[in-house]
Amino acid sequence: MLVYVNGQWLNDNEATISILDRGFVFADAVYEVVRIYNGRYFYLDRHLQRLKQSLSALRIDVDVDSLEIVCRELLERNKTDQGSLYLQISRGAAQRVHGLPQGLTPTVVAYVKGLSNLDTSLQESGGKAIFYEDTRWFMCNIKTVGLLINCLAKGEALSQGADDAIFHRGEIVTEATSSNIFIVKNGTLYTHPNGNLILPGITRQVVIELAHELQIPVEEKPFTREELLAADELFLTGTMAEITPYVKVEGRTIGEGKPGCVTRRLQDAFSQLTRSL
Ligand SMILES: Cc1ncc(COP(=O)(O)O)c(C=O)c1O
Repeated sequence: MLVYVNGQWLNDNEATISILDRGFVFADAVYEVVRIYNGRYFYLDRHLQRLKQSLSALRIDVDVDSLEIVCRELLERNKTDQGSLYLQISRGAAQRVHGLPQGLTPTVVAYVKGLSNLDTSLQESGGKAIFYEDTRWFMCNIKTVGLLINCLAKGEALSQGADDAIFHRGEIVTEATSSNIFIVKNGTLYTHPNGNLILPGITRQVVIELAHELQIPVEEKPFTREELLAADELFLTGTMAEITPYVKVEGRTIGEGKPGCVTRRLQDAFSQLTRSL
């Protein structure tokens, strides 16, 4: 696999970064994952805009326009029909000190991965989830590589035979380990509002826009675990998940126990959009 590391194009087994890199030592790094459909990036502009916000929140100074050139060259060199781009920027390498050392050269790593034989069975038949207390920090809108709680939650879900974990702060449902969450009740879509408790998902926004086009009402307002369990439909959205229905949570059946018609309409509209690229 071809990897871009700080201006060099290398094979993945030749690519290295310093053990002092602050991404490695402090999770002092941000990232993006961008989907590739039909050899083209899906909303690269929106991902780069979010990356700009993440970089600015951490006060890492990188010219995002030059990153866009890297992303485009990567896809050019590594022609991929269906796949994803991973792009990570850390503050750079420095002696291990707390505080924010100035004048570092950020570490930029990017690669493209093909997705052949992608398993879409969850999108077709629906997944099972558990609830997991959201003990992450209060800056979940920044897409940092500090994903340990997400990994613990997903690991717990898998160990219980579920597919994912749904985070909640007290009774309020926030999002899932790598996706945003929507419920459908009486024909209206509900999802947690943007802010510091969730990642402002690109797919979440696309789904809201598609819902508007389909005249499906959307309310960006918090809902409880109880409301989730009483929903007619439930689905997760994300770059990799796209729109994935969930039909069981904590062993309780959601709606009719199968992907519902609002979810199906949105899935169809989403796949039309990705096919039209
Ligand atoms: C915690 C979290 N929420 C939501 C999302 C979905 O965001 P997007 O649709 O931009 O992939 C992700 C994606 O990685 C995520 O990690």
